[in-house]
Amino acid sequence: MTTATCDRTAITSTPIHEVLAGRWSPRSFDPAIEVPAEKITAALEAARWSASAANTQPWRFIVARRGTTEHATIVDNLMGFNREWAVSAAVLIVNIATMTTEDGTPLRWAQYDLGQAVALLSVQAHHDGLHAHQMGGIEVDGLRAAFGIDPALEPMSVTALGALGSPEALASDVLREREVAPRVRRPLDELVLASA
Ligand SMILES: Cc1cc2nc3c(=O)[nH]c(=O)nc-3n(C[C@H](O)[C@H](O)[C@H](O)COP(=O)(O)O)c2cc1C
Repeated sequence: MTTATCDRTAITSTPIHEVLAGRWSPRSFDPAIEVPAEKITAALEAARWSASAANTQPWRFIVARRGTTEHATIVDNLMGFNREWAVSAAVLIVNIATMTTEDGTPLRWAQYDLGQAVALLSVQAHHDGLHAHQMGGIEVDGLRAAFGIDPALEPMSVTALGALGSPEALASDVLREREVAPRVRRPLDELVLASA
């Protein structure tokens, strides 16, 4: 399997793990390369073994491979330009938070825990030579209706997963420019509010 390369490694003030520095969110996915089943399983295992408040594990996933009706349904429920680029991803995953326990008690950290699990999923995917791109621009009600998602569950985001494509394959100038634009972050001293 050959994939496009595009080094967008983070510039850090001190070295960090190469998988973390090398992870980024592309919009160009190779439409011809499939993701082996074991790599999808590994990504989901990484999410499964994430930490969560009181080990409540409030993450649930709908996983759809390109070429399935489920994949097409998820694409239909992406907003705006997400629909344009994410259609090429080999796998789309709807990330869902269980907002209450079975007896209806609110799970205060459900979304926090789901986000953390999806972060681990992304890191595992990158470690396995894939790329992941999370999207919050989704049609929540449309996904609910299409997949019969229980009202106690909250679809939060969709992750596009697959092999990196080339920036030139993107359809619009805007997307091509964003794909190669410098990656930026606030400086550390702006993030650390206090450090004793
Ligand atoms: C919760 C969440 C929602 C996001 N929503 C979108 C989205 O709807 N469309 C999109 O193209 N990127 C989306 N992104 C990707 C971010 O724009 C991206 O992670 C950010 O610009 C940093 O870039 P990097 O991941 O390459 O470091 C989202 C990321 C997260 C974590």
